[in-house]
Amino acid sequence: MAGTGVFEEIIDGDVYKYYSEGEWRKSSSGKSVAIINPTTRKTHYKVQACTQVEVNKVMEVAKTAQKAWAKTPLWKRAELLHKAAALLKEHREPIAECLVKEIAKPAKDAVIEVVRSGDLISYTAEEGVRLLGEGKFLVSDSFPGNERTKYCLTSKIPLGVVLAIPPFNYPVNLAVSKIAPALIAGNSLVLKPPTQGAVAALHMVHCFHLAGFPKGLISCVTGKGSEIGDFLTMHPGVNCISFTGGDTGIAISKKAGMVPLQMELGGKDACIVLEDADLDLVAANIVKGGFSYSGQRCTAVKVVLVMELVADSLVEKVNAKLAKLTVGPPEDDCDITPVVTESSANFIEGLVMDAKEKGATFCQEYQREGNLIWPLLLDHVRPDMRIAWEEPFGPVLPVIRINSIEEGIHHCNASNFGLQGCVFTRDIVKAIMISDAMETGTVQINSAPARGPDHFPFQGLKDSGIGSQGITNSINMMTKVKSTVINLPSPSYTMG
Ligand code: G3H
Repeated sequence: MAGTGVFEEIIDGDVYKYYSEGEWRKSSSGKSVAIINPTTRKTHYKVQACTQVEVNKVMEVAKTAQKAWAKTPLWKRAELLHKAAALLKEHREPIAECLVKEIAKPAKDAVIEVVRSGDLISYTAEEGVRLLGEGKFLVSDSFPGNERTKYCLTSKIPLGVVLAIPPFNYPVNLAVSKIAPALIAGNSLVLKPPTQGAVAALHMVHCFHLAGFPKGLISCVTGKGSEIGDFLTMHPGVNCISFTGGDTGIAISKKAGMVPLQMELGGKDACIVLEDADLDLVAANIVKGGFSYSGQRCTAVKVVLVMELVADSLVEKVNAKLAKLTVGPPEDDCDITPVVTESSANFIEGLVMDAKEKGATFCQEYQREGNLIWPLLLDHVRPDMRIAWEEPFGPVLPVIRINSIEEGIHHCNASNFGLQGCVFTRDIVKAIMISDAMETGTVQINSAPARGPDHFPFQGLKDSGIGSQGITNSINMMTKVKSTVINLPSPSYTMG
């Protein structure tokens, strides 16, 4: 159970502690932040409201700890990461319980998130050992005008202190996807978890604590964004920011200054369906891609662009599948669970009502109880409706009927987002040409968008983000290149 057994030391009364200098601490603010259970809409957990002074301390110790960590052998860093991965998997049940209560993630998916995170950490340790174990050796005579008088040795070195800010929908997985590459590369790490999801993240951090990482190398501060948000992202002690979330990321990028940024800021992933597509496959992918975790994924299918000729048939197939989805509490492992906050539910409702006023066809009756919204397919959506462009982050999916491939590509590219997209067709040549034309970081052919497997590159174009993620890209992003050049007094050519 959360906060018990090995996790007893991370809680004080009913308030979870924050993690600094290798210890679990109470904030001097004496204040806490409530975490509302999306299902009951009542306070379920409380976390410390950390102060700016506490953030300063965390940054100070992170800087010192990083210097020693950078001198820790690579195999040793990997060994500790493997330990943390094993501990995370061992304690998957209490961590998954937090995900169910804080973010209403269906029970089985919550366990999957934790296990996937353990695998991600282990893979990162392996990848880091190989990738960072190699550097480059260059010789000067390959550039015009030079003799072989210079040997250049390059290696990848850490950036320093990495600030990780994951989103509510994967508070564990999208935290470790930042923590593990940062650590294997020799950085220290400060985590600011989302408020909703903070307790799961604190449990995850405790697994790193139990694994025996050096004091101060990893810290986790909780609290109100209004108090410590900007203070963290603009802190002079931060050398890299890895952020996943909404358009707050754009504001962070404007304020961050000369700091490398890795950002994933959402998407409006289009699903283009051609006339020759396998419509059963498409329907299954639309339901999985659009409605799993109630549509609260950056990579969810967020608009279907289907050729008019097959639209009726596809809509019928999708509706038949939607009718089978279970709707209810995450504890019962329902397919559709309450969305994360009341304001999210209100936002989704606003998009639905706008579409209603403008004449969209409702394939199901719109139903809502508290934060729980029943799955809804909106047909005959037109570009003048907000839902054609905005990200609902809920179980509501618009269908736009198109008369040409160009129309579909045009709609996809007119979006300010560019995360992923997908195309369904049996014609691989057409699929590749459409993929090339879609201005998104990834295009899936004959499957719904998805970030995983976690070692695949993951990137957004336009407002969807900066830089590329995925294990290898994240390790590279969290390092910089250092060169040492050996200058010889006279040319020397290596002989066989
Ligand atoms: O919500 C944003 C995530 O990066 C999406 O990850 O495709 O594994 O659900 P996912």
